[in-house]
Amino acid sequence: MPRDHAPDPAQRSDSSSANVAQWTRMNREHTDSRAQEQWAAEEITWGVFGVPDRTIGLPLGEVAGLDIVELGCGTAYSSAWLARRGGRPVGVDPTPAQLETARRMQARGGPQFPLLQAPAERVPLPDASFELALSEYGASLWADPKLWVPEASAPPSTWRPPRLPDELGAAPPLLAR
Ligand SMILES: C[S@@+](CC[C@H](N)C(=O)[O-])C[C@H]1O[C@@H](n2cnc3c(N)ncnc32)[C@H](O)[C@@H]1O
Repeated sequence: MPRDHAPDPAQRSDSSSANVAQWTRMNREHTDSRAQEQWAAEEITWGVFGVPDRTIGLPLGEVAGLDIVELGCGTAYSSAWLARRGGRPVGVDPTPAQLETARRMQARGGPQFPLLQAPAERVPLPDASFELALSEYGASLWADPKLWVPEASAPPSTWRPPRLPDELGAAPPLLAR
């Protein structure tokens, strides 16, 4: 992975701490209380308008049997959806409170998969461990793109751009396969 664009370490750690503080607060005020319903949802939905997956052509395609990394998984409900469809996700997020909510959902009977505390800029997993990298309002909005995109990228020949329509009015999930 190219390291030419690595920012000053002090600056990087300030930015990460600010993100974690913000998402610790968001967890307390919003995301923890919504997690149960989101984990239980049968249907995958995308974007701020909750557009059902099936109405936009199933952008992820078949996920059964795929090794998947979700970068900035938050409370990890997207990973839970993919696990129920036979995928093998690993959720990665730097905010302990978000991961604690995800672990509680697993303890209540949700699908089991690994959860790692880390920023998407520095994922503590071997290179080429995954066939699909996903970010749904996670790394794509909160991590430094000069660092997380190379970290998540597959070789150019296997890059698969998102297929969500613009009219969603929301950042689509970013997919690499
Ligand atoms: C909106 S949530 C995304 C999770 C979920 N898809 C959702 O919509 O709630 C944003 C997540 O990005 C995480 N995040 C913040 N900085 C990050 C970074 N540098 N790398 C990866 N994730 C980060 C936050 O901890 C938070 O859980």
